[in-house]
Parts: sequence; C-alpha cells; structure tokens
Amino acid sequence: MKKDLLRESVLKKRKTLASDEVKRASENIVTILKKLPLIKESNVIMSYMPYGNEVDIKPFNQWILESGKYLLLPRVLDNSTMDAVKVNDIISGLVKSSFGILEPASDKESFDINLIDVVLVPGVAFDKQGNRMGHGRGYYDRFLSHCKSSTVFLGIAYSFQVLDSIPSDEYDIRVHKVITE
Ligand SMILES: Nc1ncnc2c1ncn2[C@@H]1O[C@H](COP(=O)(O)OP(=O)(O)O)[C@@H](O)[C@H]1O
Ligand SMILES: [Mg+2]
Repeated sequence: MKKDLLRESVLKKRKTLASDEVKRASENIVTILKKLPLIKESNVIMSYMPYGNEVDIKPFNQWILESGKYLLLPRVLDNSTMDAVKVNDIISGLVKSSFGILEPASDKESFDINLIDVVLVPGVAFDKQGNRMGHGRGYYDRFLSHCKSSTVFLGIAYSFQVLDSIPSDEYDIRVHKVITE
C-alpha cells in the first residue's frame, strides 16, 4: 500500500536527524507557537509528548503550564482509542504507554473533548491540503473526529515532512494548518 511506503521513507529520514537539528527546528516551532494569536486566545490546548525524533515541544508544554492555560495530553486506552487528560506536571506526572510514549496515568480523569480549543497533532507526514499520515493506527483520526467543529487542529512537523500530496482515505481527518520550523 502506497501509504506504508511513504510512511517508511519519511520515518527513515526523521531517524537520521542529528540532535542539534531536532533542537534547532523544535526551538523555532516553539517560538512560532507562542506568538500565534490562536494560541494566545486559547485556554485549553491538547499537546503531545515527543517520541524519538518527533518535534520536541516539551518546552512549549511547560510554557502552557506556566501561562495558566490548561495542558491536555493524549492517553492510549486500547488498541484503537485515546482520550485527553489534563496534566499539571510533565516532569514527574507521567507514565510510559505501551508505545513508550509518556502519558497521564490510567487513574486520571478523562477531560471533556468538547472543551478543547486547539489540538497540536504530531504526524509522520502532512500535505499542503492538511492531509495527515500518522503511524498507521488511526488514533488521531478517531480522536479528532469526535472534537467539536470549532476546535482547531495544528499539525506539528519538520518542513521535510510536508509533501505536495499524500494519499488519504475517507476516515482521515485533515489538520487546519501545519506549523514547521
Ligand atoms: N474514524 C475511524 N473509525 C474507524 N476506524 C478508523 C477510523 N479512522 C481510522 N480508522 C482505521 O485506522 C486504521 C489506520 O488508519 P490510517 O489512516 O492508515 O492511520 P494513520 O492515520 O495513523 O496514518 C485504518 O485501518 C482505518 O480503517
Ligand atoms: Mg489516517
């Protein structure tokens, strides 16, 4: 399947990034995010904890906490669904998921998805129309399909992850904009 080949080639490229490249691009993205009017106006922001060479937005997550906004992080519930949980501490308040990603512990209360203003969406690849490819499990497609229509989805990626066009299926959910370095 074409999606799988594309996924592999972009992931391969991301794996080769040096840590200073990850750092530099991530810092740029964090700076851009902090200045966005959308972010300034938003009170409930769902972000993510980076895995591998994903864009490192931990400093942005910390900034959300310090600015008094609500920080939500995804938590895997089973092999197809995830929910959002409000967190107060990203340094010590998280546990490792089955995928090795830091997430809120299972005893934490689920946050009302209807109250989310912005979702920062990680991805393997995006295209200029906002189509998104993840790791191939559809977690974000399912989650985003339940968000209210005014919630804004921002893809977060290195510029090499934004392609002219990627194949999409009817259940794929597009992002409204992609933020790159
Ligand atoms: N809203 C949904 N309801 C049911 N199944 C879904 C939904 N969204 C995605 N899927 C399933 O998830 C799987 C992975 O989707 P895919 O788009 O390839 O992954 P990803 O978005 O992670 O790249 C597909 O088999 C698809 O059928
Ligand atoms: Mg998809």
